[in-house]
Amino acid sequence: MNKEGLPTTPGPIGVFDSGYGGLTILRQFRQLLPQYDYLYLGDNARTPYGSRSYEIVYEFTLQAVKKLFEMGCHLVILACNTASAKALKSIQENDLPLLDNSRRVLGVIRPTAESIGAITNTRHVGIVATQGTINSESYPLEIHKLFPDIQVTGEACPMWVPLVENNEYDSPGADYFVKKRINNLLRKDPQIDTIILGCTHYPLLLNKILKYTPRNIKIIPQGDYVANSLKKYLKRHTDIELQCTKNGTCRFLTTESPEKFKDSATIFLNTNIEVEKISLE
Ligand code: DGL
Repeated sequence: MNKEGLPTTPGPIGVFDSGYGGLTILRQFRQLLPQYDYLYLGDNARTPYGSRSYEIVYEFTLQAVKKLFEMGCHLVILACNTASAKALKSIQENDLPLLDNSRRVLGVIRPTAESIGAITNTRHVGIVATQGTINSESYPLEIHKLFPDIQVTGEACPMWVPLVENNEYDSPGADYFVKKRINNLLRKDPQIDTIILGCTHYPLLLNKILKYTPRNIKIIPQGDYVANSLKKYLKRHTDIELQCTKNGTCRFLTTESPEKFKDSATIFLNTNIEVEKISLE
């Protein structure tokens, strides 16, 4: 233990989301970087975060980061756009120096923004995300830092996370909400040739999204870009890499019912898993 009461021995890479969405990122981590151990935490009891205030998303995310640190993680990925948009900066700048300056917390928005310059031809990009992520303007801000010529248009999709969390992503009800939001986005900017899925839950809605998007428009789920970025990060930061254990395991934690998590996570990951319940309050 260090003086902050955190374990000093190497541990798994922490992956956090408000619910199941982060599993779409974890899946890509495990595919690209199977040698590492992962500890996934879903705050399913308090999902969705998308419509919550800055203060609440920050408070919940900080609780999760602290818990993952206490459980041995030296590196935590916020596999949630809403938490990345609303809490990451404060945690990096204000909390990490107090908690333990040698640990790291990373998000999913920057790696996605970095990838977009090479993908769009028209330089008109659309973002579908939660209300919180759209209101934060994080995507236009990050994209414009790197590619000032790209026009970024956002569309908040408040019903999409509940559809996924409630296993309704393949239902006829999902068609209505997906069509409505894609149409709204393309009406705002008909020159869009690339749509970023700016919420880690949305890859589950990919079939419906493709159904209502013209063929010439590229749909960008984040998993691959975030995983590639993590790979490069671990190569550049050997001090952090040495703190990540490598036995190829994955543990799952949820703040809600483990049985429920297990059923839904099986759909996300296509494999059977063991889940433990924890409390963050
Ligand atoms: N997966 C989270 C994201 O990427 C969902 C947010 C929510 O809980 O509303 O934004």
